[in-house]
Amino acid sequence: MNILLVGSGGREHALAWKIAQSPLLSRLVLAPGNPGMASLGELRPVKVTDTQALVALALEVAADLVVIGPESAVEAGLADALAVAGVPCFGPTRAAGQLESSKAFTKDFCARHGLPTGAYVVCDDAATARAALECFAPPYVIKADGLAAGKGVVIAPTRTEAEAAIDDALGGRFGEAGSRVVIEEFLEGEIGSLFALCDGTHSMVFGHAQDHKRAYDGEQGPNTGGMGTYTPAPLFTDALVERVRRELAEPAFAAIAAEGAPYRGVLFVEFMATAQGPKLVEFNVRFGDPECQVLMLRLESDLVPYLMACAKGELDRLPAPTWRAESAVCVVMAAEGYPDAPVSGAEITGVEADFGPQTAVFHAGTRRDEAGVLRAAGGRVLNVCALGDDLVAARTLAYGALSQIQMPGGFYRTDIGWRALNR
Ligand code: GLY
Repeated sequence: MNILLVGSGGREHALAWKIAQSPLLSRLVLAPGNPGMASLGELRPVKVTDTQALVALALEVAADLVVIGPESAVEAGLADALAVAGVPCFGPTRAAGQLESSKAFTKDFCARHGLPTGAYVVCDDAATARAALECFAPPYVIKADGLAAGKGVVIAPTRTEAEAAIDDALGGRFGEAGSRVVIEEFLEGEIGSLFALCDGTHSMVFGHAQDHKRAYDGEQGPNTGGMGTYTPAPLFTDALVERVRRELAEPAFAAIAAEGAPYRGVLFVEFMATAQGPKLVEFNVRFGDPECQVLMLRLESDLVPYLMACAKGELDRLPAPTWRAESAVCVVMAAEGYPDAPVSGAEITGVEADFGPQTAVFHAGTRRDEAGVLRAAGGRVLNVCALGDDLVAARTLAYGALSQIQMPGGFYRTDIGWRALNR
């Protein structure tokens, strides 16, 4: 089977690593991929939002399946264009992708279909948004409506900071994505990431994990795309997984299909386990990053049949996936200045060492310069991941590998998994 995987981050490196292990694979093409993925397939320098070039590439390499990694490719309409070209695709259409590309759409969608989530107000101008803060208690949750590369959410402890976040977003910090803001009720509880596959009709839960969103230890500092993950997390009792499936994932799939946009791909349900039960924080229309990294480490089943079944409407023919008994952890090495102003170009050394079969280092934002030197080229640069008999063992391996990697100015959190360890 020929597979074209679209994307260039740590999530896509982890997907490529897992796909490359499939006995079903003949050829893996990565567009554009990254230096860490070069040993797993053929890198093609095509942008993830260049839909026409990606369709042409899929046809050129006779792709049996295209796997969409990032939400930007979903928003660009890649699945829609591939459908026209007759190429099976794992990833939702642009219409279904609104579940991530518009926070206002999703909140209204939840209201229309009775999905549990926090109260909210959608505002197009600063005066309305400032006035709307009256309806909420601190901390204030301010979200840019559109895609903002994981940076569009501010949790503001004070009214002054909330007003600054509103002015920032509506003042153009996120471009068109911030031309509208959503102010939301802050939900109390523990946050979780659950993944569910859907083939347009049938669906199944496909793993879960816990992420650490704040930049620094102790949940301090600005919100990020995610600084580290682990799975399994004790939060995910069978009963909670069942509630999230029944109350959020399945109703969302049914409702989006009823609205004329059947969902094919993975839905990332980010929820708060509140005292009243799970409530939606947000949907994302792709695997989480870096949740995907730990899921791929723990996934025992071959990934490829699940991806293909979603594309072809055959998910009901597959059993639930099987997972290794071990725990998996991922620690993100970020560039100096991340998330506000990441410094590019730091030299990375030590990454190619043999850390053993239980450890994997995925590249998230790297490039090779003309001399072949590996350099930081993004906010989140490396994902150091490990499997261990338990979370403590997995962390020991991951932090041991990290201690051998050098990247001037780079930093990482030292407390990934603290919620599970403190229980
Ligand atoms: N780790 C959170 C995200 O992928 O959005």
